[in-house]
Amino acid sequence: MPIDLKDQVALVTGSAHRVGRAIALELARRGAHILVHYHSSSADAVRSTMHDIKSMGVDAFSVQADVGTPEGVEAVFTAVREAFGRLNILVNSASTFQKRELLDVTYEEWQQTLAVNLTGPFLLTQASAELMRQNSPAGGCIVNICDRGVDGPWKEYAHHGVSKAALWALTEVSAVSLGPDIRVNAVVPGPVMKPAGRNMSDEAWEAVGDTLPLKRTGSAEDVARAVAYLVTEDFLTGTLIHVNGGEHLTK
Ligand SMILES: NC(=O)c1ccc[n+]([C@@H]2O[C@H](COP(=O)([O-])OP(=O)(O)OC[C@H]3O[C@@H](n4cnc5c(N)ncnc54)[C@H](OP(=O)(O)O)[C@@H]3O)[C@@H](O)[C@H]2O)c1
Repeated sequence: MPIDLKDQVALVTGSAHRVGRAIALELARRGAHILVHYHSSSADAVRSTMHDIKSMGVDAFSVQADVGTPEGVEAVFTAVREAFGRLNILVNSASTFQKRELLDVTYEEWQQTLAVNLTGPFLLTQASAELMRQNSPAGGCIVNICDRGVDGPWKEYAHHGVSKAALWALTEVSAVSLGPDIRVNAVVPGPVMKPAGRNMSDEAWEAVGDTLPLKRTGSAEDVARAVAYLVTEDFLTGTLIHVNGGEHLTK
């Protein structure tokens, strides 16, 4: 029997817009209250996401923080405690995405990417485990949003790929360390939204889809439903779902 998310509390990082927003809305649609975390999103984007979540009859609060710093992670958890005083679900979706080949990555870029994509989720996992274990009944679920770096070297996105491969390794060690009361899983999206901040034409985006076995790109909602599946199925831990039209088979 799938877990009922009604009245559970979910923290979704990077959820004011794009894929994180779709995940937050899917969990809200299933009855979870949501802590919307954002970093540099506009007030309009945050307001609109909060409005859409609340229109599903659940509570929504927001917190602005840089999850690439310990202080930012602490601020997120202060907000969770003040808003809800408990936590059932953490989704680590916030991420940087920078195109660089290995020899072009600067020390600062390496540090920043690892800070947001790996150290942030690590600190959020530790803080979440503590709060989830105060729940009654104790326990919870964490989902880490990875990327194709999980499936092998990603030459054009060297440091990003390394950070996401390591996020999968964090998922596995978390699953064996935090059970049986906390489950930890991952989703590996493929091309589901055009990269943020880049002016990619529809033709170029379609060409990306053409490289996949399913011959099309996906959607943020595809990822959101996979996250909801991992959250609601209580015999799943240490596993990952590729939501990528078969991209991992094309290398
Ligand atoms: N889009 C795709 O097709 C695709 C494909 C594969 C994997 N993924 C993965 O899916 C997840 C979501 O994808 P997306 O395309 O929606 O991502 P995105 O737009 O590139 O960024 C996700 C979020 O990360 C937040 N963020 C960035 N730096 C931050 C920091 N220092 N502190 C806190 N938050 C920070 C941003 O918040 P603000 O905007 O508020 O600053 C943004 O909302 C990511 O983990 C990504 O790697 C996406």
